[in-house]
Amino acid sequence: MLILVLNLVFLNVFNAEVSPKFCRIWGPGLYPDKIVMPARYFFIEARNLENERINKSISEDFKAVIEGLSEQNTPCRIWTNNLDVKDGSYIIRYKVFEKCYDLKISVTHFNKHVADSPYKIIGEVLPDHCDCPSYTLNNMLKEWKCGNIPKQITKDLESIDSINWENLRKEIISNYDKPYSVSLCHYVIKQNKIYRNCYGKYVGFKMFMDSILLSLSRKAILPDVEFFVNLGDWPLVVKKDKSRNNRTYPIFSWCGSLDSDDIVMPTYDITESSLENMGRVMLDMLSVQGNTEEPWENRQPKAFWRGRDSSKERLKLIKISRNHTDIMNCSLTNFFFFRDEISEYGPKSDHVSFYKFFDYKYQLGLDGTVAAYRFPYLLAGGSLVFKQESKYYEHFYGDLKPYVHYVPIKRNLDDLVEKINWALDNDREAKKIADEGKLFSNKHLLPKNIFCYYSHLLNEFSQRIVSPIVILDKMDKVEQTNQKETCNCNKIYKDEL
Ligand SMILES: *[C@@H]1O[C@H](CO)[C@@H](O)[C@H](O)[C@H]1NC(C)=O
Ligand SMILES: *[C@@H]1O[C@H](CO)[C@@H](O)[C@H](O)[C@H]1NC(C)=O
Ligand SMILES: *[C@@H]1O[C@H](CO)[C@@H](O)[C@H](O)[C@H]1NC(C)=O
Ligand SMILES: *[C@@H]1O[C@H](CO)[C@@H](O)[C@H](O)[C@H]1NC(C)=O
Repeated sequence: MLILVLNLVFLNVFNAEVSPKFCRIWGPGLYPDKIVMPARYFFIEARNLENERINKSISEDFKAVIEGLSEQNTPCRIWTNNLDVKDGSYIIRYKVFEKCYDLKISVTHFNKHVADSPYKIIGEVLPDHCDCPSYTLNNMLKEWKCGNIPKQITKDLESIDSINWENLRKEIISNYDKPYSVSLCHYVIKQNKIYRNCYGKYVGFKMFMDSILLSLSRKAILPDVEFFVNLGDWPLVVKKDKSRNNRTYPIFSWCGSLDSDDIVMPTYDITESSLENMGRVMLDMLSVQGNTEEPWENRQPKAFWRGRDSSKERLKLIKISRNHTDIMNCSLTNFFFFRDEISEYGPKSDHVSFYKFFDYKYQLGLDGTVAAYRFPYLLAGGSLVFKQESKYYEHFYGDLKPYVHYVPIKRNLDDLVEKINWALDNDREAKKIADEGKLFSNKHLLPKNIFCYYSHLLNEFSQRIVSPIVILDKMDKVEQTNQKETCNCNKIYKDEL
């Protein structure tokens, strides 16, 4: 008996021992010369001496050192961030602040190099603010290994064979001339310069679209293209709208719905968090993975939810939760839409850091006014997500599978308690779905994927336009703003033969 116990202890220790050689390292951050992003990132997966994945947090971190030389031959300014995902995997991300030469990425574990470390990048590595497009958009899609055209784009553009803006643009502008309810921006990209004119009283959100276009145009030569962007929450191109004479309008929106024909883009939220990774935003798809504190086993077996009162189902959730405090902890953090019902559904609760949501095993994805834009972050956090049925969707929903990546719940929440109970009784399956959800987010929703989605969309869309692309009257040029210092572009794109 004693021998058996000792044996088990020994085996356990043995299985958790990291083999630097067998560990895996991969990700776009290993190719910083080809893939320019605000924050570069790569993954480390711990493996043991048997070449098996170690699925739990290991006590000794991997060490990542990223260094290179500036143009002045001094160590170049790089900020590195080591994120422990606490499942035996790590995300290393780093921000390059100036042009760097001969970058070296070393990953070690107890002073031993891991996988193929050190990774040496000969030549120059550009910071994201350099306006040095070095390939066509088509070639960028290849260099970045963006993969096939996303299914949602194919679907959205399926019925659009050719776009002639000649008359259509006037029709769209007059049809949506509702300055207090519609916020629409008209963009033209010509010779890799961006021009736009916006219509509506509230067009502040144009900054997100400007930023992603400017960012792409610093990396690649964008095709000449003309398009409209709906800045509002709600999709605009409602199906069967008689005013359009059965024609659809090709308009980009952050959110899609089953009863409209808008061409969906990544939401402004995930767009910004991709652009401002290691910058202005706190919450992004990488930070959420590195800042959850507990592995699945230690998370409380309860459904946790915080949010504002932006739908009547959210109010209903509060009532259900009060009847099931043993398995639910849900409350409203703000009253705006139903201010007069605060006595019934309040008091409003204190703000809880989003990272702390993942002290709980179960998360709820409930629509707000439209799709709840926190859904990607919920998937990334490694808890099981219960998602309310909805007519609204984001650009990636089409690739998600119910009971594989998340558990669907009825719109009226009538099966919520039953489904939480299922998860409580089937912890292993619940964890599997949670793990798959997180895997999905790492495969489809990281900053690189967001850049790729926009690139594919612009590329596909531009090919359908048959009218000449001209800078129109009253359009303003959108200028690069974050040009902190000038960059000498050596590799700048020249007409490819
Ligand atoms: C570790 O994860 C891998 C891949 O997800 C899985 O196949 C394996 O069964 C897991 N091992 C343990 C001990 O949980
Ligand atoms: C619009 O489509 C409907 C159904 O397909 C058709 O009956 C109607 O005549 C069409 N209207 C126009 C103006 O083309
Ligand atoms: C909560 O429980 C009470 C008492 O059993 C019941 O009357 C009420 O309908 C329940 N509310 C919800 C939303 O489930
Ligand atoms: C609900 O969650 C909050 C935040 O984690 C916690 O402070 C509070 O004690 C929880 N309430 C109950 C009844 O468990």
